[in-house]
Amino acid sequence: VNQSQAGGQGSKPGDFEAVRKSVIDLLKQPDYDDGSAGPVLVRLAWHSAGTYDVETDTGGSNGAGMRYEAEGGDPANAGLQNARLFLEPVKRQHPWITYSDLWTLAGVTAIRAMGGPEVSWRPGRTDYVDDSKLPPRGRLPDAAQGAAHIRAVFYRMGFGDREIVALSGAHNLGRCHAGNSGFEGKWVNNPTRFSNQYFRLLLSEEWTEKTVPESGALQFASVDPVTEEELMMLPTDIALTTDPEFAKYVRMYAEDKALFFEDFSRAFAKLMELGIRRDAEGRVTNTDNEKGGYRS
Ligand code: HEM
Repeated sequence: VNQSQAGGQGSKPGDFEAVRKSVIDLLKQPDYDDGSAGPVLVRLAWHSAGTYDVETDTGGSNGAGMRYEAEGGDPANAGLQNARLFLEPVKRQHPWITYSDLWTLAGVTAIRAMGGPEVSWRPGRTDYVDDSKLPPRGRLPDAAQGAAHIRAVFYRMGFGDREIVALSGAHNLGRCHAGNSGFEGKWVNNPTRFSNQYFRLLLSEEWTEKTVPESGALQFASVDPVTEEELMMLPTDIALTTDPEFAKYVRMYAEDKALFFEDFSRAFAKLMELGIRRDAEGRVTNTDNEKGGYRS
């Protein structure tokens, strides 16, 4: 793995295109999972932001709190240390970028590089951790649960049903690892190519319950008729088809890839901005740099 030379010889502060290039250069990882760091980078971006709570204005990507045990050690974040390690050489090469900007920028860059939509992204997050904004553990969704839990978690972030289904389409990417989550396997055949295949498989396949031997976790399985590979769905994925309101959008996105890309792009951009306030010029105003807390 030649990560140290990714993207040339460093860059001027504010040259986010250079950072994007370094991220693209490290995506190919022949010895890791399905050959790409992309999926786990997308999950890092999502988990860094998905702790947000509208009501208390706590959590979110600002601060990159996952560097510390309180958040990084949340069992929901197991495996994301791989994503953070992939990005260390990029941080060394572009030391001016904050981790919180780097993690979110890497996510949107990976989505695009894997054939997904362009997601608009704005810089300005800081790595300044405000202890009063630290999210408690348990804010991220539990895959063993159903529609009511999914709604409770995503409504707390400020999303609605259509956005929830659109965001869930990220499960076109990557896989589950029994050692991380108890769940095992991939959702689609080509998990490093962003598409609406996840929605089509949710509807076209017959999903039967299966217990993961290593963990005892209950998930759903189906054998792909063409490749004869076993594919999987989480209980929360299946809930998108059994809940009538969610199912409407699953059908919509299964039929219309362009609409899915458009909705996903908007929802993911919103996710990356949760808890970030900006002035008219787009500068982040709630960096809390003058208040208590600690710097990395
Ligand atoms: C992987 C749960 C929503 C992106 C996973 C894994 C679980 C999970 C259990 C496997 C982790 C592992 O074992 O390594 C859930 C639940 C969700 C949800 C319960 C909501 C109800 C999302 C959203 C996104 C996302 C909104 C992004 C927009 C991903 C990606 C992976 C993944 C890309 C693959 C990671 C890899 O390959 O290492 N998710 N997820 N998920 N999730 Fe989700």
